[in-house]
Amino acid sequence: MEIVCPGCTKKLNIPDERLHALKSNVTIPCPSCKGDIEVDIQSKKSPSATFIHPEGQLTGKELKEAILKSVGDLPPMPQVAQKARQVISNPDSNFKDLAKVIETDQAIAAKVLRMSNSAYYGSAGNISSIQQASVFLGTKALMELLNLACASGPLGKSLNGYDLESGDLWKHSLAVAAGSRIISRNIKPDLADDAFSAGLIHDVGKLILDSYIHEKKEAFNRVVREGKVTFPSAEKAVLGFDHAEIASEVCDKWKIPQHLSLAIRYHHNPLESEKNDLTYILHVADVTAMMTGIGGGLDGMLYRIDEKALDFLGFGHMDITLLMSEIAEYVSKTVESV
Ligand SMILES: [Fe+2]
Ligand SMILES: [Fe+2]
Repeated sequence: MEIVCPGCTKKLNIPDERLHALKSNVTIPCPSCKGDIEVDIQSKKSPSATFIHPEGQLTGKELKEAILKSVGDLPPMPQVAQKARQVISNPDSNFKDLAKVIETDQAIAAKVLRMSNSAYYGSAGNISSIQQASVFLGTKALMELLNLACASGPLGKSLNGYDLESGDLWKHSLAVAAGSRIISRNIKPDLADDAFSAGLIHDVGKLILDSYIHEKKEAFNRVVREGKVTFPSAEKAVLGFDHAEIASEVCDKWKIPQHLSLAIRYHHNPLESEKNDLTYILHVADVTAMMTGIGGGLDGMLYRIDEKALDFLGFGHMDITLLMSEIAEYVSKTVESV
């Protein structure tokens, strides 16, 4: 019988005989995230699994430290992309080196192949190897595909704590990635690629915190409902820190460049970033993406654009309307190609 750990989504295979021999519910330690999975064996066809975090009732600094320690067990979302970025920035490396990096992860390599053969990239049926893809598409387009492929798995899952259905966070992240790149091309072209990457991973903190929020769902919902506050404020009230803070610290742990992790940390309050351009870009793209209604969930209602961020970028409300339609077009095309 297959049981999926609700904490980290690791699949565990437990022989049916072992489960059927038991009379009461059983707690199994997850070998991946080390949390306890409580399995309800009464419903033998599909036992329901409840996740109990190894950190118990920790909050604030202690909880954050415990999460940072265990976060290495998450799916290796950005590592392959990060290595590929290093290869591309090295003038001595070539297409072959880039292909070698991508091929270190078969699942990602397969996805990159599938996407590079989609109609969106105009190469349907012609690309049969990663090396060919890198020659045909060029390193920039391949890097984009790689980023998308790395993120689509983990970001695609449903987040019960945040009431996001399967694919919601992925679409929202795509929207913010596209929006950040469009803004960046207009005002800071050098940052365009970084802006895309930052957009794609800006809410990875929600992925990390989801099971913790889910455990405290009642308290979380109460704070949101009664206080009429945004999700980050409710996260702070319930856990002691928000998804942007934890994501930025995880990015530091993953050795993602500092201007990206800074932008992620302050994407909800860009003025605190001390004029880091990427933060303002990410913030405006994030709120604009929420306004398009793509995959944002309930949080979008209370999330407002910081007018000072618009001034900082020299952006007007007319630009936002145009940005919304460009974002929507990008997301629908990309979702089709994956
Ligand atoms: Fe966010
Ligand atoms: Fe977001």
